[in-house]
Amino acid sequence: MEKKTQRVKTLLTPGEVAKRSGVAVSALHFYESKGLIQSTRNGGNQRRYRRDVLRYVAIIKIAQRIGIPLGTIKDALGVLPEGQSINAKAWKQLSSQWREELDRRIHTLTALRDDLDGCIGCGCLSHRDCPLRNPEDRLGSQGTGARLLEE
Ligand code: FES
Repeated sequence: MEKKTQRVKTLLTPGEVAKRSGVAVSALHFYESKGLIQSTRNGGNQRRYRRDVLRYVAIIKIAQRIGIPLGTIKDALGVLPEGQSINAKAWKQLSSQWREELDRRIHTLTALRDDLDGCIGCGCLSHRDCPLRNPEDRLGSQGTGARLLEE
C-alpha cells in the first residue's frame, strides 16, 4: 500500500481564509486595515495569511457578535504574543474580559427595558417624569423649572 503524504500549507490565500472562516474577503481586508489581523505578501505581491489567522477571525467574529467595539478587540489581540497562535489560556483571558463587558451591557439593557415598561401606554414623554427621556435628571427630585438658575 502506497503511503500518501499530505503537505500542509503554511500560508493561506485570502480566498482560502474566507472559505474556511465564513467571512468575505472584503471583511478580511477590513480587519487587516483596522490592525486586527496581519498578512504577508508573496513574490507576486499577493496577500498570504498564516494559518492561525483562522483563530483570530473566529475570535473577532465572536467579539463582534457580543458587541465588542473593534478598537477593544484590537487592543485585546494586541497584547497576545506576536507570532504565536491563540491558545486556550489566551482565549480564557479574552473571553473572561468580554464576559464582564457582556454582563455590564445586559445590566444596562435590563434597566432600559424596565424603564420602557413604565412608558408603554403612557406617552407623556415628560422631561420631568419619563426615565427614558431624561435619565440623568439629578435635579428633578428638587422641583420643576430651572433649578440651577433659581439658586
Ligand atoms: S412616556 Fe411617560 S413615563 Fe415615559
